[in-house]
Amino acid sequence: MMFNLPKSVSIIEVGPRDGLQNEKLFVPTEIKKKFIKGLKNAGLQEMELTSFVSPKWVPQMGDAAEIVADCLDLNARDIVLAPNRKGIDRVYMSECKAVAFFVGVSNTFNQKNINKTTADSMAELQPLIAELKDKNYFVRACISTAFYCPYEGKIDENDAINLCTEFVQSGVDELSVADTIGMAAPHEAYSLFSKLKQAFPDILITAHFHDTRKLALANILASLQAGIDRFDTSAGGLGGCPFAPGAAGNAATEDVVYMLERMGISTGVDLKKLVDAIEIVRPHLSRQIESGYFKLHAQTV
Ligand code: HMG
Ligand code: MG
Repeated sequence: MMFNLPKSVSIIEVGPRDGLQNEKLFVPTEIKKKFIKGLKNAGLQEMELTSFVSPKWVPQMGDAAEIVADCLDLNARDIVLAPNRKGIDRVYMSECKAVAFFVGVSNTFNQKNINKTTADSMAELQPLIAELKDKNYFVRACISTAFYCPYEGKIDENDAINLCTEFVQSGVDELSVADTIGMAAPHEAYSLFSKLKQAFPDILITAHFHDTRKLALANILASLQAGIDRFDTSAGGLGGCPFAPGAAGNAATEDVVYMLERMGISTGVDLKKLVDAIEIVRPHLSRQIESGYFKLHAQTV
C-alpha cells in the first residue's frame, strides 16, 4: 500500500545544464536554444538553463551568457549555476533572478569540482547568499555527494544534514540534495529526505538522483514517500559531473513523468512535446539515449 503521495509534483529540468555540461563535444549554441525552448513548450516551468562557471573548467557551458540572453523566461523559474563571486557578477550582468550554488559534502569532491574545501566554499558563499537575498533573488543550494563520493566512499548522513543546515541558516530558498554518482539505495534516500523534511518544513526540498545503477526511479518513489514533491530530472536522461567519475545521467524526465502520471500524480509536462524537444538535441550528442520512454516513442531512434 502506497502512502503519503502528493497530488502533484514539481519537475526541475536540469538537462540543459547537468545534461549538456557532461557531453564530450560542445553542443552548438543554436541547438541548445532550440532544445531549451522545446522543453519550455513541453511545460517545464523550472529549469537549470546553464552555468556561469569557468569556461576553462567546463568549456561546454562557455556560451552561458548567450543562452540566458536568448532563453530566459521571467515568468518561469529559470536558474543558472554559479560557483563564486565572478559567477555572481555574471548573473548581475544578465536578467536572471534565480541562482544555484553547488557544494559537496565530501571535501575531496569539492576540491576536484570547485578547487576549494567545503568549509572554504561555504565561507565564500555565505555573504553572496545574503547579498542575493537582499536583492530578492531566488537562491538554490545544490548539495553534491550527499550519499556517496567517488573519492571518499560512503558519506555520513549527519554530515549531509549539517551542510544542509548551514545553507538553510544562510537563507537559501531551496535545497537540491544530490546522489551525484547514483549509488544511493531507496532506504538511504527515504532516511535522509525524511529527516530533511522534518528539520526544514519551510524550505523547498528537491531530490536529484543520477541513474548510474538504475536506482533513480526507485529512489524517487522512496523520496515521494518521505514527503518530497520536487525532483530534478534531465530530458533524455543526460547528465553527469565532469569531476565525478562514474556519474552517469540523471533520472530521465520522460521516465519520471511517465511513472508519476501513471500513479495519478500530476507533473504539468506534455510527454509528446518532451520527446520532440529531445529529438532536437539527440543528433548532436555523443551518447545514446537510453530512457525507456524515449526509445519507445521517438521517431528517429
Ligand atoms: P580556479 O581555477 O581555482 O579559479 O577554479 P580561479 O579563480 O583561479 O580562476 C581560473 C580562471 O577561470 C580565471 O581565468 C578566472 O577569471 C576564470 P584566467 O584569469 O585564467 O583567464 N573564472 C571564471 N570565468 C567565468 N565564470 C566564473 C569564473 N570563475 C573563475 N564564474 C572555479 C575555480 C570555481 C572557477 C572552477 O573550479 C569551476 O568553474 N568549477 C565549476 C565546476 C562545474 O561546473 N562542475 C559541474 C557543476 S556541479 C554538478 O554538476 C553537481 C550537481 O549536478 C549536483 C550533483 O549531481 O551532485 C549540481
Ligand atoms: Mg548532477
